[in-house]
Amino acid sequence: MYTDIHFDTIDISRGAPDKEPERQYYFIAKCRQYTQQFFREMGRFPTATVQTFGCQMNARDSEKLTGILKAIGYREEEQEELADFVIFNTCTVRENANQKVYGRLGQIGKIKKSRPHMLIGLCGCMMQEAEEVEKIQKSYRQVDLIFGTHNIFQFAELLYRRLTSRRLVTEVWDGTDQIVEELPAERKYPFKSGVNIMFGCNNFCSYCIVPYVRGRERSREPQDILNEIRQLVSDGVVEIMLLGQNVNSYGKTLDQPMTFAKLLQEIEQIEGLKRIRFMTSHPKDLSEELIDVMAHSHKICRHLHLPIQSGSTRILEKMNRRYTKEQYLSLVSRLKEAIPELSLTTDIIVGFPGETEEDFQETLDVIRKVRYDSAFTFIYSRRTGTPAANMEEQIPQDMIKDRFQRLLTEVQTISSESCCIHEGSTQEVLVESIDSHEEGYVTGRMDNNLLVHFPGIPSMIGTFVRVYLKKCKGFYYIGELVK
Ligand code: 5AD
Ligand code: SF4
Repeated sequence: MYTDIHFDTIDISRGAPDKEPERQYYFIAKCRQYTQQFFREMGRFPTATVQTFGCQMNARDSEKLTGILKAIGYREEEQEELADFVIFNTCTVRENANQKVYGRLGQIGKIKKSRPHMLIGLCGCMMQEAEEVEKIQKSYRQVDLIFGTHNIFQFAELLYRRLTSRRLVTEVWDGTDQIVEELPAERKYPFKSGVNIMFGCNNFCSYCIVPYVRGRERSREPQDILNEIRQLVSDGVVEIMLLGQNVNSYGKTLDQPMTFAKLLQEIEQIEGLKRIRFMTSHPKDLSEELIDVMAHSHKICRHLHLPIQSGSTRILEKMNRRYTKEQYLSLVSRLKEAIPELSLTTDIIVGFPGETEEDFQETLDVIRKVRYDSAFTFIYSRRTGTPAANMEEQIPQDMIKDRFQRLLTEVQTISSESCCIHEGSTQEVLVESIDSHEEGYVTGRMDNNLLVHFPGIPSMIGTFVRVYLKKCKGFYYIGELVK
C-alpha cells in the first residue's frame, strides 16, 4: 500500500527504477528535495492547486494529482492567483470547454508576470489534441508542463524533469494499455470517493471526442478495485461512485472476463460500505443481469444515469448509438418495473447534423414518457476529428437555440414534477456539507441522488440521518431531522 511508503527513506542517490509504481515513488522522493529547499529559503512550503474542468473522471484524476502533490510536500491553496503551482485539468468534450481553459490560462499568465517563480501545468483531455498543444506551445509561453490523459501516473517524474531542466516539458502518449496501481490520491470528501473501474471508451459515438482522447477501453482487475474500496472503507468512506465511460461493458477486455453485475455483487459484500453508485451506463450494454442485481441489492443506489442523446431512431443511428427509441423505452420500462423507486437522469444533445423538427419532437416524446428527475442538455458541438464534424446538414445556430430553449422548458417542468413526488416522506440521507445558503442548515443526499437542506450541525457531516421531506423546491427539498 502506498500509505505505508516513507518517501524520505527511498535511496535517491541511485538511478530511477524502471518498474512502476516504484519509479514514481522515487521521483516523489526527488521532488521532495525541492519542496524542502523551498521551505528552507522561504520559511514555508510551496502551494499548489488543481483546477478541474469537465466530468467525474477528471475530478478523480485531479484527486490523484493532488495526492501526488501532497506526497511531494506541496500544501493546498484553493485560490489559483495565490498558488505557486497551478494545474488545469482540462476537458475538450465541447468547444466551450476549450474556450474556458484558454480564458483562465490568459488570466493566470498575467499573474505569473508578477510572480515569475510560479509554475503552470496543463493536463487532461484537451492535451491529447495535437493542434491544441501546438497552439499552447506557440502562444502561451507561460506554461511549464503539458501532459496527457495517459501520463497522469508520471506526474512526479514530469515535474522533476521541469524542476531540473527549467524548460517546458511536454509528454503526451497517444494511448496505453498500462494501468499503474498504488499511487497516492487525495479525497475531496472524507466519506465518499470515486473509484475508476475502467478507462477509455470503444463506442465511437459519431459526435464524441472521448475515444480519441481517452483511448481504448481498459478495465482494472477486480482484485485491485476491491482492495482499493476496502482501503477506502477502512479510511472512513461509506459511499463510492464507480467510474467509467461505459461501466456496462466492464470486464470484457480482462484476461478472465467478468461482468459489471458480478463486480457489483462482489463490492456489495464489503462490510462497512453503505452506498454504491456508478456512471455512465450505455443503454446498449445494460444487461438483464444488472437490472436483477440492482433490484435485489441493499447498497446500490436507486439512481441510474442513462444517456439517451436523441429520441429519434434515425438520429441515433447517425450518432452510432446502436439502439432505437423503442429499445430504449423498453429498457426503461423493464428497469422501472424491477426497481419501482428508481430515479432516472439522462444526457441529451440538440442540433446534431440532420436533426429535423420531427426528430426533435421524438426527443420531447421520450422525455414525456420517461419523466427524468433531471437531464443534462447540450447544444451539439462540432468536434474536429469526429465523423459527425464532416457530416453534411449542420444545423443553423438560431434553429438549435430555439430547440434548446424548448427542450429546457420541457425538461425543467417534468423534472420538477417528478422530483417532488417524495414530498411528505421520510428518507435516509448522507449528510455531505454545511448549507452555503442558509445558516444553521446542512445538505444531505438521498439514495436517489436528490438533495435536501435541513437544520443541522457540522458534526453530522459524513453520517446517515433520517430526514422528513417537508417542502419540495423543484429539484431539491427542505426537510427536518427525524429523531
Ligand atoms: N456536442 C455536444 N454534446 C456532447 N457530448 C459529448 N460530445 C458532445 C458534442 N460533440 C455530451 C453527451 C455526453 C455528455 C458527457 O456530453 O451528451 O453524454
Ligand atoms: Fe463518448 Fe459515446 Fe464513449 Fe460516451 S459512450 S464517451 S458519448 S463515445
